[in-house]
Amino acid sequence: MKAVIIPGDGIGPGIVASAVRAIEAVDAGIELVEAEMGAGAFQRTGSYLPEKTIELLKDVPAALLGAITSPISYNPSYRSPLLHLRRTFDLYANIRPIRRLHPSIGLVDLDVIIVRENTEGMYTGVEREEGEGVVTERRVTRRACERLVDRAIDICQEQGRRRITCVHKSNVLRRSDGLFREIFYERTKGTGLEADDLLVDAAAAALVSQPENLDVIVTLNLYGDILSDEAAALTGGLGFAPSANLGDTLGLFEPTHGSAPDIAGMDLANPTAAILSAAMMLRHLNMSDKAKRLERAVMETIAQGFRTRDAGGKLGTMEFTEKYLEVLGTV
Ligand code: IPM
Ligand code: MN
Repeated sequence: MKAVIIPGDGIGPGIVASAVRAIEAVDAGIELVEAEMGAGAFQRTGSYLPEKTIELLKDVPAALLGAITSPISYNPSYRSPLLHLRRTFDLYANIRPIRRLHPSIGLVDLDVIIVRENTEGMYTGVEREEGEGVVTERRVTRRACERLVDRAIDICQEQGRRRITCVHKSNVLRRSDGLFREIFYERTKGTGLEADDLLVDAAAAALVSQPENLDVIVTLNLYGDILSDEAAALTGGLGFAPSANLGDTLGLFEPTHGSAPDIAGMDLANPTAAILSAAMMLRHLNMSDKAKRLERAVMETIAQGFRTRDAGGKLGTMEFTEKYLEVLGTV
């Protein structure tokens, strides 16, 4: 079996190296093929997303991405290669499991899976000048909502989660978000799941004040983007938050954080999100026992008190990775 590895920019290569060592340590037997994307790729090839990378991705069931840097100066013709990949490969569901891993990390006892629409909503990329301002096209389609909600239901069933909450803003966006909410109740009916819904502002508050009421959240693109950063911050920061962009064939796995150019090359980054993203990748490739081992070892490493700087510890990326691999050998 083959998978593509895209180290990317900034802290990406360092944390991906840790994740690759973890994959190798559990003998996943995957042939890992490296590909380029991001600002470094642009410098070397003139493209943020070289054609060769797209071709490689057409051939594999999964890819692991570190992080990429966007251009600093504002360039209206730049389109994020990540958004391009989500569209090109129709990676319609973005799965973000967010959990506090230890009482000494983070602020709130949260354990949620955010299932975010990943191809439309506020992310159509269509904007036009009109009159004195700019109009942005926001799209909510029946098909996207149906397949998103169905994916979220599958996740509940696979992972034994009982409650599913639709997060929307249908008091204002009556037709678009109203359609999403309506489809949510159509699809969850008869599944045996406890289905309810929340306005997005109330959901933002509930993540802090009633975390125990949230289990699986299914939501539209921008709401999911914002709520997942909030949830990650509440549980110890983006250094712990993995994600999966899933289509019907390809899965693209990546930490929720960015490329953190300010600490790039300093051996400071927390590789946990990348390692947990690798675990999600193994689960996608039907290696759930190996995925569980990677996750158990993360819990155990944290329980033993090993921490990188972002989590109040002293270890560098490499030292933390060594400790993690030692623990992995024992679980
Ligand atoms: C994310 C990121 C992206 C998004 C950016 C980099 C375009 O914030 O994956 O959450 O908004 O989806
Ligand atoms: Mn984001």
